[in-house]
Amino acid sequence: MKTPLSTWARNISPSPTLAVDAKAKKLKAEGKDVCGFGAGEPDFDTPDFIKEACIKAIEAGKTKYLPSAGLPALREALAAHYAKRRGIRRAASNFIVSPGGKFSCYLAIMATISPGDEVIIPAPYWVSYPEMVKLAGGVPVFVKATDAADFKVTVEQLADAVTDKTKLIILTSPSNPTGAVYSREELQKIAGFAVERDLLIMSDEIYSTLVYDGVEAASPASLSDEAMERTIVVSGFSKAYSMTGWRLGTLCAPDAIAKAVADLQSQTSSNATSFAQFGALAAMENEKLADEAVAEMKKSFDRRRLALLQGLNSIDGVFCRRAQGAFYLFPNISSFGLSSTDFCSKLLEEELVAVVPGSAFGSDENVRFSYAVSDETIQKGLERMAKFCARV
Ligand SMILES: Cc1ncc(COP(=O)(O)O)c(C=O)c1O
Repeated sequence: MKTPLSTWARNISPSPTLAVDAKAKKLKAEGKDVCGFGAGEPDFDTPDFIKEACIKAIEAGKTKYLPSAGLPALREALAAHYAKRRGIRRAASNFIVSPGGKFSCYLAIMATISPGDEVIIPAPYWVSYPEMVKLAGGVPVFVKATDAADFKVTVEQLADAVTDKTKLIILTSPSNPTGAVYSREELQKIAGFAVERDLLIMSDEIYSTLVYDGVEAASPASLSDEAMERTIVVSGFSKAYSMTGWRLGTLCAPDAIAKAVADLQSQTSSNATSFAQFGALAAMENEKLADEAVAEMKKSFDRRRLALLQGLNSIDGVFCRRAQGAFYLFPNISSFGLSSTDFCSKLLEEELVAVVPGSAFGSDENVRFSYAVSDETIQKGLERMAKFCARV
């Protein structure tokens, strides 16, 4: 019998973050008291007004196919929202609604990357980018953003990595897994470099509302018309509005790319779930309610961030940077002399604390904590982690 799997299927690795979460959930189901810091998902319910808009849409029979690019009213609302909140002035036709931010990334990569094209991915990176680039036949080129450099890459590093085959740079700000946020000036330099070297940027801004310490998460697409013309902004509703299970992503791209993405979507997913898009429309149209909901979640995240940061840095041998975005901390655990995978396996087995090995994100010296968990879990998890570190 011929091998049933394609080369793509044989070469793809499953998402390690989802795997850690599944393992922690399994232990929990067996009755174990696990402190799970693995999930990249807000621990809040979706705001009621969003749920109600979706329920109303179902009751009104909005349960049929929609245009592939998305509900027209939602694309209009996205254009208005991006102009006002992100400083990105684009027509509704430049916005696409997809089944999840993850799928938006995939569509952006499939629409732009041909076999052999190189894609610069700053490491630590979100787990799915390299796999998606490989699925498109592209070649991921990693540029190391070190702990000491606040987990950010410089133009000099990008210049060293660029070749004639480079097509795209992926930027994630705020970052998963590090929580690092690029400043406007840093983005200005990178965008200028992309213009100069004729490169595209895929800017993953899914955590842009979740920033702390008064910093802003600017978009390269807002910096100049030239930068906008080569930037694909991917985002979604999962993180900001606690809508992970709704599977709703967005993409904002120059004309030709937006059209290609809509065509790709028409031949793959057809459209993101119709009634879910009405919930998203409510989130865009009811700014006051949406802002209140986001502010409430942000307040909790910030409190937990500071508690976790302080707790981690008080453990001998652990060093953690003060990340200013998303809901992750990425402490350095290299002083314990274990690989990040061994560190995480032992921590889960011995102390029932689930965190994700940094190796999954291209940095074996770190582990990722999500602080989208309760204050009690943070306290309990820190006590167990301290016990574990004292023993290793
Ligand atoms: C950096 C980043 N981009 C995109 C996504 C995709 O989110 P979703 O597919 O739930 O919209 C995630 C989710 O973890 C993420 O961390």
